[in-house]
Amino acid sequence: MLRSGDTVVEIGCGTGLNFALIQEKIGPEGRIIGVDLSPEMLAQAAGRVQRMGWTNVELVQAAAADYSFPRNVGGILSTFALTLEPEFDAVIERGAQALAPGRRWVVLDLRLPKGWLRHLAPLFVFLVRPFAVSLELTKRHPWESIGRHLGDTTYEEGYFGMVYIASGSAPT
Ligand SMILES: C[S@@+](CC[C@H](N)C(=O)[O-])C[C@H]1O[C@@H](n2cnc3c(N)ncnc32)[C@H](O)[C@@H]1O
Repeated sequence: MLRSGDTVVEIGCGTGLNFALIQEKIGPEGRIIGVDLSPEMLAQAAGRVQRMGWTNVELVQAAAADYSFPRNVGGILSTFALTLEPEFDAVIERGAQALAPGRRWVVLDLRLPKGWLRHLAPLFVFLVRPFAVSLELTKRHPWESIGRHLGDTTYEEGYFGMVYIASGSAPT
């Protein structure tokens, strides 16, 4: 649970779509650090930050694997981005070490569904290939890294098992 005044890191923040929801929880005393590989995405995020008049958002252009987390982070979030990072396991491990005791890492992303739907994966991947999605990505399982590096984990699936949300907390 995020609290007023927390520092939250978002990995692969894109245009900053999640920032407003984070701001509701952390308030003006808190801080958002949005990390993304793409300067174009960050330019759009910067526009959003300016329009909203937020003064507590820092945008960092970096691959997730190259980013050094600050210490004592109140929460880490990544939505539809972490599977794109080949070194996702190391990123989750480093994030876990940066979290304040009891605070959570949350990953929302796509996965290969179980059962007969997995046979449709090549078609699905074909449709979303402009977003740098390939079948290779289905071999990446960040939710298992959450289980490896954090405690008190949760895992839920939606959209016929194609989307999952996994979370875990740093030891208290
Ligand atoms: C599908 S978008 C999701 C954006 C945002 N999280 C959202 O839910 O709206 C994926 C984002 O991840 C970023 N990205 C891809 N690979 C990355 C990496 N290795 N490190 C950091 N960001 C990455 C892309 O530039 C893009 O902005």
